Amino acid sequence: MKNKEPMRIALLGLGTVGYGVYEFIRAREDLQVACAMSLVVPEDVTCPIVKDIRDIWADETIDTVVEVIGGLHPAYEWVKGSLEAGKNVITANKLLIAAHYKELVSLALEKGVALRCTAAAGGGIPWLTSLKRCAEQEPVIRISGIMNGTTNFILDTMHTTGGSFDTALAEAQRLGYAEFDPTDDLNGADIRRKLVISSNIGYGCVLDEKEVATEGIEHITGEDIAAFRSMGRVCKLIAASRKLDHSVAAYIEPALVPPSMPESAIPTNYNLISLTGEHIGKQSFYGQGAGRYPTAYNVLQDCVDVSHGIRGFYTDRLEEAHVDNSTVYRHYYVRTKGDDSWLKARTESFLPCGVITEAVSVSEIHAWAKKRRELDPDCFIASLR
Ligand SMILES: NC(=O)c1ccc[n+]([C@@H]2O[C@H](COP(=O)([O-])OP(=O)(O)OC[C@H]3O[C@@H](n4cnc5c(N)ncnc54)[C@H](OP(=O)(O)O)[C@@H]3O)[C@@H](O)[C@H]2O)c1
Repeated sequence: MKNKEPMRIALLGLGTVGYGVYEFIRAREDLQVACAMSLVVPEDVTCPIVKDIRDIWADETIDTVVEVIGGLHPAYEWVKGSLEAGKNVITANKLLIAAHYKELVSLALEKGVALRCTAAAGGGIPWLTSLKRCAEQEPVIRISGIMNGTTNFILDTMHTTGGSFDTALAEAQRLGYAEFDPTDDLNGADIRRKLVISSNIGYGCVLDEKEVATEGIEHITGEDIAAFRSMGRVCKLIAASRKLDHSVAAYIEPALVPPSMPESAIPTNYNLISLTGEHIGKQSFYGQGAGRYPTAYNVLQDCVDVSHGIRGFYTDRLEEAHVDNSTVYRHYYVRTKGDDSWLKARTESFLPCGVITEAVSVSEIHAWAKKRRELDPDCFIASLR
């Protein structure tokens, strides 16, 4: 790359990830932060600060826009406008990509520019790029794993200390592993977006995030964890999807994993994400799913890939597919107050604070749990693996 002009980048956002990206690029000759947009500018940032995104769109010397402001607005308008202006776009924004996948990917393909989002799922793990490489050669039939560091930290802390959910959450917030408002991590929305993006790329489809059945960990208690320990199992928040003939099974739920599964040993805020290929079997990817430098590293890798001429998205297959969880059956741990005839008819055994059901479909029990919360808001379910 030595005698080549550096790729000129407009950096939108200088927060946790954005400042990390700035630091990485500052040390390189092949990439250059031509300008940045940010509400707050750290003292040692020396590049020009732009106030109006249209100045970036009009600047023909800027090849690539890196969006790390997060949220849907104005990120959506800025990313869409950048693609329309013929700029490559690199983003870490899972909320944006999961919600506007088909539109933004189609636009990038139409304009012949790159749209990369490797940091949006797996943080610092080169997960999406590995998934893409596999999907190009080999049908991907399953995707699963621990894709949210905040919830893994909370569950791991509850298991190792025997403490309460609130204490573990407070510790996660103190260490910076949980945001001030952790709602989207705890209720599974964050991990659901990562599963949608991963499934779309792995299977060449377009899933509607709203169809993905989602149970979080916000209702788990120290008593539940004690019961799981006595069963010799570890509770993890798992994202899982499976390619079916004309649809996709896709769900997020707490799962009780035995020690024989590698997921059981994932500590603190780490992630473990796996794909299963038709011929190659299961491959797993482990590492930091968040944090300034791991995440900025994947954004940097995307910048380098684009500067090496990668154009387009990870896949150009954009077939809309429905979610169908009716053919996936599992036994479940269920804790709820009071009697319920549906649950009673399916109970196989009793634990001090809950029951274990016979094998029921994911679609049936997720629908039951949603309805049950109208009577018992603290009802908790977890599948047995
Ligand atoms: N942090 C992680 O570990 C991680 C991991 C994977 C993916 N991501 C994704 O990376 C993205 C950025 O996350 P982050 O943690 O870096 O967030 P952050 O620390 O809140 O940084 C966002 C930055 O963008 C700025 N900003 C927001 N709206 C703006 C606007 N309209 N104009 C100019 N600047 C604006 C914010 O300024 P103010 O602070 O003044 O609001 C802030 O400096 C998100 O999409 C997130 O999901 C983050």
